[in-house]
Amino acid sequence: MSYEKNKREQRKDDHIQLAIDHPDSPRSAFDEIRFIHQSIPSLNIDEVNLSTTIGNLKVNHPFYINAMTGGSKRAAEINEKLAIVARETHITMAVGSMHAALKDTALAHSYMVVRQQNPNGMIFGNVGADVDVDLALQAIDMIQADALQIHVNVPQELVMPEGSRQFSTWLSTIEKIVTRSSVPVIVKEVGFGMSQETFSQLMDIGVEIVDVSGRGGTDFIHVENERRSLKDMSYLKEWGQSTAVSLLEAKPFPELDVLASGGIRHPLDAIKCYALGAKAVGMSRNMLLLIEDQGIEGTIEYVESFKEQLKIIATMLGASTLQELQDKPIVLSPGLISWQEQRNLK
Ligand code: FNR
Repeated sequence: MSYEKNKREQRKDDHIQLAIDHPDSPRSAFDEIRFIHQSIPSLNIDEVNLSTTIGNLKVNHPFYINAMTGGSKRAAEINEKLAIVARETHITMAVGSMHAALKDTALAHSYMVVRQQNPNGMIFGNVGADVDVDLALQAIDMIQADALQIHVNVPQELVMPEGSRQFSTWLSTIEKIVTRSSVPVIVKEVGFGMSQETFSQLMDIGVEIVDVSGRGGTDFIHVENERRSLKDMSYLKEWGQSTAVSLLEAKPFPELDVLASGGIRHPLDAIKCYALGAKAVGMSRNMLLLIEDQGIEGTIEYVESFKEQLKIIATMLGASTLQELQDKPIVLSPGLISWQEQRNLK
């Protein structure tokens, strides 16, 4: 195995292990949002239908396994297991960054296994904003992706010892991919959240779907700092907007399809995301922990229970659809109110 290849595969495995060992965040901005209990919801649980749309894609369940991995033996095993879970539970799954396979076709199997295991499922491809446009289109073909995620991860690149230092072409690359892609394009953060300014930039170049992937779960400054020899940038941990704040930032952009991920702990967090306008919710690290600890069967049980619990909470709130959840009153903490005021979000 060449030195370069070895390094790339090692990085994939480092990310997996460091995400597994990642500490849980001590607090969540989701706890700063409260629903109001109502005693008489006038609704039966079997009337709840939380199916959704992502761009022009119809999706049965409003949550998905978000991008993680590919490009090493361990990654292939994880992807295969997660793909079986996605197939059996009819949820969407995104693969991790496909650059490894675009550079070295011998690694393509670790991504293609997801399509092989789930020929009819909803699968998202994943590339970075520095990718060559033709390669981005190849990534779509490689797994017959139903949509393409483009990840934007500036803090991670900068803290990563071997990361990129060039970002000035990202916006124009995203624009070219949006223009040429045959499938919907989702611009996605990796745990640092998004802002009004970012939404405006993206909408100006024709982006219609974003995944805000906010702070509160996997923290890639923590992960990359662990990989640095001096581990001297830990003070930057918790950089970025939480997922809840990112969704508040998205309020002035009703034309944008907003997906939420980053630190989703349980179905109540997901329901809060829908109430704040998210069309679907993604989970990464929790799915990784589940598949590693509980295997395929245990993870399928978790997903089925997650679906049921979403319906239970929607019923408690008297909402039969995601749209109705958006109309339910919520109470925000003084911190979130202050954020809204300072950012003119009202
Ligand atoms: C990720 N994430 C990620 N995102 C992406 O767009 N491309 C990628 O290749 C990866 N790789 C990756 C590896 C591992 C091991 C993890 C845990 C995560 C980021 C991920 O999709 C998500 O945005 C963040 O992890 C936040 O969500 P959670 O983990 O808090 O649910």
